[in-house]
Amino acid sequence: MTMSLSIVILAAGQGKRMYSALPKVLHPIAAKPMLAHVIDTARALQPSQLLVVYGHGGEAVRARMSDGDLLWAHQAEQLGTGHALQQALPQLSGELTLVLYGDVPLTRLATLQQLLAQAGREQIALLTDHLLNPTGYGRIVRNAAGAVQGIVEEKDADAQTRKINEINTGMMVLPTQHLAQWLQQLTNNNAQGEYYLTDVIALAVQQGMPIATVSPEHSWEAAGVNNKLQLAELERIYQREQAKSLLAAGVTLADPARFDLRGVLQAGRDVSIDVGCVFEGDVRLGDNVRIGAHCVLRNVQLAAGVEVAPFSHLDGAVVGENAKVGPYARLRPGADLAAEVHVGNFVEVKNSRIGKGSKANHLTYIGDASIGAAVNVGAGTITCNYDGVNKFKTVIEDNVFVGSGTMLVAPLTLAEGSTIGAGSTITRDAPAGKLTLERNRQLTVAGWQRPIKAK
Ligand code: UD1
Ligand code: MG
Repeated sequence: MTMSLSIVILAAGQGKRMYSALPKVLHPIAAKPMLAHVIDTARALQPSQLLVVYGHGGEAVRARMSDGDLLWAHQAEQLGTGHALQQALPQLSGELTLVLYGDVPLTRLATLQQLLAQAGREQIALLTDHLLNPTGYGRIVRNAAGAVQGIVEEKDADAQTRKINEINTGMMVLPTQHLAQWLQQLTNNNAQGEYYLTDVIALAVQQGMPIATVSPEHSWEAAGVNNKLQLAELERIYQREQAKSLLAAGVTLADPARFDLRGVLQAGRDVSIDVGCVFEGDVRLGDNVRIGAHCVLRNVQLAAGVEVAPFSHLDGAVVGENAKVGPYARLRPGADLAAEVHVGNFVEVKNSRIGKGSKANHLTYIGDASIGAAVNVGAGTITCNYDGVNKFKTVIEDNVFVGSGTMLVAPLTLAEGSTIGAGSTITRDAPAGKLTLERNRQLTVAGWQRPIKAK
């Protein structure tokens, strides 16, 4: 028999030690707000309701996370975790309530499933952990028989209790009806003058309710973020875990410690990725794709056999089979490269289609262009696509050869097989199969002398 589940995410804390205008739970891990990580994990548990307790200045949190299925409870003043849950209570309709923290982003789904499996109408499930250094955490107090008696906060603990290294992670599952009664009984008669959610454990024990405990496989699953150092540490752990699963799936990573994925990466067989690359958004790499060192790839799709040489930046591009990109190439949104295209160093391509086998190997800007197959774009070619107000299109048909240092002033068509002489500024269409150029005559001045420096 499965019971209906409410999940409450506590996210009202200010995060003073982040020294930031951004509310703490919106600080990102892998470009996604911490709270969004928690919400995604919570959703995977398929609760009947999902509620976030947010605090002052938390309107930004609401605005950022404004998904239809979320419920919100406002905690105007942070009077403690028990008080936070009291704000949520009137809306809670599930038989069980799972409490999560918005600043503890990396708890695994499997761990929460184990925790839920231990909870019932007459049983609490607590996620606890054993730490070598339990400083700062609430301690789990057990009796001689090993049964949990309560949780004592660090600041309220005597020397003996502080030696306990089993700690409260804060995550717990409680039967909602009982929780409602216990929350009413909380007082703030403690070292911090707060309403502690942790005090409900002793109240439940007084009622004879058993407390089951579950521990996470990894201690980082319960690690919270209070400052930028902890944020950076969890970022590394998250990246390491992602790298591990890619390695397990057969992707070659030159160094899993120098790999960053901020989104989703789909990779075929025999894909290899050198050090220092960043992948963002939705990236798809076909079989045998090779990515050189220090590339940034964002929302791109690379077909089988594509090679991206070091220091390239690809954003919103689609690249066909066996194409070569970089080093130092920049593909911007709408760059659509067919198979076997070569785009080399210091070449920028935006909103342009480049046909099969065409090459632009050096120092070139291709914007708003349609380039056919087997075209050679010489070094230093620029499509002059913008007059300061309007954008114009350049059409380059199959087998065109554009000499180096050419300005192509759009709108313009270079017809099939045409050749453009180097150094031309082309302002009118070039006919098929002919040489077109625009160039001043070369002059040699007789009798000219270089100026000489006076001694
Ligand atoms: C809490 C637990 C402690 C546990 C530790 C784990 C209590 C009394 N103590 O302590 O046993 O070991 O977490 O990290 O519960 N929050 C609100 N409103 C509030 C207070 C807190 O929403 O009024 C939220 C915070 O944003 C945070 C979470 O609750 O996400 C925990 O708050 P925090 O102040 O970090 O609790 P601790 O004192 O660390
Ligand atoms: Mg804390």
